[in-house]
Amino acid sequence: MDPKKEIEKLKKIIERHNYCYYLLNHPEISDPEFDALLKKLELLEARHPEFISSDSPTQRVGGTAAPEFKAHVHSKPMLSLDNVFSFEALDAWWERIQKSLKGEKVELVVEPKMDGVSLAIIYEKGLLKTAATRGDSSVGEDVTANGRTLQSIPLKLYADKAPQRFECRGEVYLFKKDFEELNKQLEKSGEKIFVNPRNSASGALRQKDPAITAKRHLRFVAHSIGEISAEISYKSHSQFLEICKKFHIATPLDIPLCHSPREVQKIYEDWEKKRESLPYEIDGLVIKVNSIEQQKALGFTAKSPRWAVAYKFMAHQAESELLNAEFSVGRTGVITPVAKIKPVSCGGVTIASVTLHNFNEVKRLGVKIGDRVLIERAGDVIPKIIRKVKESPQGKEILPPPQCPSCGSEIMHDEEDGVAYRCLNSSCPAQFERSLLHYASRDAMDIEGLGEAVIEQLLQKKLVNNIADLYSLKKENLLTCKLFADKKAEKLLREIEESKKRNLSKLLFGLGIPHVGSKIARILAERFSTLENLMKESVESLMKIQELGPIISESLYQFFKRKENQDLMCRLKEAAINFKEPKRTSKGSQLSGKSVLFTGELESMNRSQAEAFVTELGGNAVSAISKKTDYLVCGKDPGSKLEKAKKLGVKILTEEEFIGLKGGEPW
Ligand code: IVH
Repeated sequence: MDPKKEIEKLKKIIERHNYCYYLLNHPEISDPEFDALLKKLELLEARHPEFISSDSPTQRVGGTAAPEFKAHVHSKPMLSLDNVFSFEALDAWWERIQKSLKGEKVELVVEPKMDGVSLAIIYEKGLLKTAATRGDSSVGEDVTANGRTLQSIPLKLYADKAPQRFECRGEVYLFKKDFEELNKQLEKSGEKIFVNPRNSASGALRQKDPAITAKRHLRFVAHSIGEISAEISYKSHSQFLEICKKFHIATPLDIPLCHSPREVQKIYEDWEKKRESLPYEIDGLVIKVNSIEQQKALGFTAKSPRWAVAYKFMAHQAESELLNAEFSVGRTGVITPVAKIKPVSCGGVTIASVTLHNFNEVKRLGVKIGDRVLIERAGDVIPKIIRKVKESPQGKEILPPPQCPSCGSEIMHDEEDGVAYRCLNSSCPAQFERSLLHYASRDAMDIEGLGEAVIEQLLQKKLVNNIADLYSLKKENLLTCKLFADKKAEKLLREIEESKKRNLSKLLFGLGIPHVGSKIARILAERFSTLENLMKESVESLMKIQELGPIISESLYQFFKRKENQDLMCRLKEAAINFKEPKRTSKGSQLSGKSVLFTGELESMNRSQAEAFVTELGGNAVSAISKKTDYLVCGKDPGSKLEKAKKLGVKILTEEEFIGLKGGEPW
């Protein structure tokens, strides 16, 4: 057979089996048979590389690992859902809808609420162009290279005539068995395990190396509509799902339609019963008004559609015995009590330790070592103790330790905040270990491979005594630790080297300055452009910045005033760490460092889009007015902010003027 034709034929066969496996949940061939087909295609393509196309199933893992993800501005916000926890609350939602729709007949779709992370997938002329995370709902991260590795996301829509644009949103999740398998592997290689399938799905989707994502068995299921070009028409949510299915995008199976909360309740109870035995985690059901016209009539609140609601299941609970209490030391020296319990299975995940948050919480719960306790695990939340079930007659009280479990220094009660007990030794190894972990974390300097187990070893061997020491690590140093072999050592050194290029905002966040979170770090980096500029500022001048109050300003000032921190900055500079924040040039810097507030309704865009563009133009969208606000953009029916702005002398822009900032293009 002509090799081109043979390749095309094989591609079709593979796609069909993918469809049966991931969409219909009904494989027609075994895994080895499937792998053999893929291998055959790979061989053929290797012999005829001129016929390889980007939509081939062999081309899912491609490109090189990117140090950072690009921002993706969503065509319309990726909203969240309102929750209800009882039949009464569901009924009240239904009543509101009935009232708004003036008694029209309403059809409801009931879908499982997958416990994963949302992803938008965008096809242009039938080809997968972009995959993006939800982010802050307006701007997400472009994770296309990773999205391509999911077998349940077609690289090409299955259609003779593909639409110009088709954006579908859905959930990325993991089967429970794949999650457990992954944790086993991570544990074996000394890496940190994930608390639940949802966290591991999120972690896998944000891997820098798509080859790793590909190995994590992520799955995608469609659940909502993005921007779709006009040649595709659908009148209801179920019709939209049918279209997805026709294109070979995975959709929830067997979605029932109903017409009353009573019917929904019946389905809810059925799902609740089968919840434990499902291969994936769900945390409730999502109830949606089916008709698109009615959805439009009902509209949205700022955060969620009025036409949909999540009917959540109760969190997983289990009983166990409190065996012991351990104390962990955080980055800022705060001591957190952690309860060790007799391992118990809770919603498919084995739990052996639960947080007690702080000593006030221990008092409130009145729990002692030896007691029987009820624990709860909900979604991505760390498991916690709900209450004491049975008191032990020999119960031992859980009290703050007199000395730091890491360095032995005296523990002090923080009178100011009243709750915390702290180790005040600034060179406490446990605090340093946490600080390093924070420095290496994804939103900070993003050093992959510098996890808990590795840091522990580096500290044990005294290879790293301060952040700057990371940059003088050598391969032979790493090889003295038992976790490292040649390749792994080289990879970590490459990652550390790579981290030198991170933007100032990431460095500032990574330094762990008290009260400086990632958002404040970004504002500071954009405003001052270089670390040297920021270090020169006085408390008074810092306070002039809209987002900075006295606490943050003072904290920054004190941090940079300390001799040891100044020395650290010098060493980082010597190590050639980037101290600059690039100007945002993608869309412009017309609003660089400016704070912008909105009032009234805008005609050409919704609020989240407008705010996203302020960010793109280098500004900060703020939510309250003060004399530090630079601009108030005034739409139709403005609120009281307009009067205040006039009084405070804040510059007022019309919608037209605001749009003009972008050079007059339509948004
Ligand atoms: S619809 C505009 N349907 O739950 C409506 N969401 O808590 C958008 N989710 O952000 C969501 N299963 O990531 C919808 N069947 C389902 C879902 C679902 C899971 C997630 C989704 C959303 C979150 C809200």
